[in-house]
Amino acid sequence: MEDLKLAIIYYSSTGTNYQLSNWAKEAAEEVGVEVKLLKVEELAPPAAIESNKAWKKHHEATKEVPVAKLEDVDWADALIFSIPTRFGNLPSQMKQYLDLLGGLWAQGKTINKVVSAMSSAQNPHGGQEQTIHALYTSMMHFGAIIVPTGYTDESIFAAGGNPYGTSVSVDSEGNMQEDVQAAVRHQTKRIIQIAKWIKNGLASL
Ligand SMILES: Cc1cc2nc3c(=O)[nH]c(=O)nc-3n(C[C@H](O)[C@H](O)[C@H](O)COP(=O)(O)O)c2cc1C
Repeated sequence: MEDLKLAIIYYSSTGTNYQLSNWAKEAAEEVGVEVKLLKVEELAPPAAIESNKAWKKHHEATKEVPVAKLEDVDWADALIFSIPTRFGNLPSQMKQYLDLLGGLWAQGKTINKVVSAMSSAQNPHGGQEQTIHALYTSMMHFGAIIVPTGYTDESIFAAGGNPYGTSVSVDSEGNMQEDVQAAVRHQTKRIIQIAKWIKNGLASL
């Protein structure tokens, strides 16, 4: 079987979801998967970015990260999304990316993608779970196979116990308040394992 292909697609204003995505990438590379780390296009007006020091700094620091193309979803066997909450919902930047996938969806090319999601918010209960659910709702419409973390590893308890996907809260300086690196690594290895079972199973039919 050819190598499993994983696309990690994120949006981040101030770096949290970029960090979560990088931890996922490291874990995926350790198990020999072909990985793409991709950001969705920034849609906010330059004046908004300029007005927030942390946002501006992160925006400039990640200029070289490739922007996710629609074909990246077609390329990938498995997808990890990482997004900050926006009032309990997806950031518009990620929503726009999903909305543009209508063409691929119409060709049946979103079916059976193996998907998992991560999130962050400023408060410990600021909408992380709901944000992951909002993304998973779209994934159901895609015919994707959602892989939640459940309580499949001790690291999930230590990370705050979100069974839908790893999530974290950040203080006003952007520092993560829970230790979630191990949970991200577990989530990544779990989705890879399940995606391999599915890919191998399909290949053997
Ligand atoms: C428009 C907007 C809405 C937000 N809504 C919430 C919210 O409802 N609850 C919360 O705890 N944090 C909220 N936040 C904080 C972000 O979720 C937080 O800054 C983000 O998770 C940090 O991730 P990042 O560093 O990857 O951008 C909001 C931020 C913005 C800009």
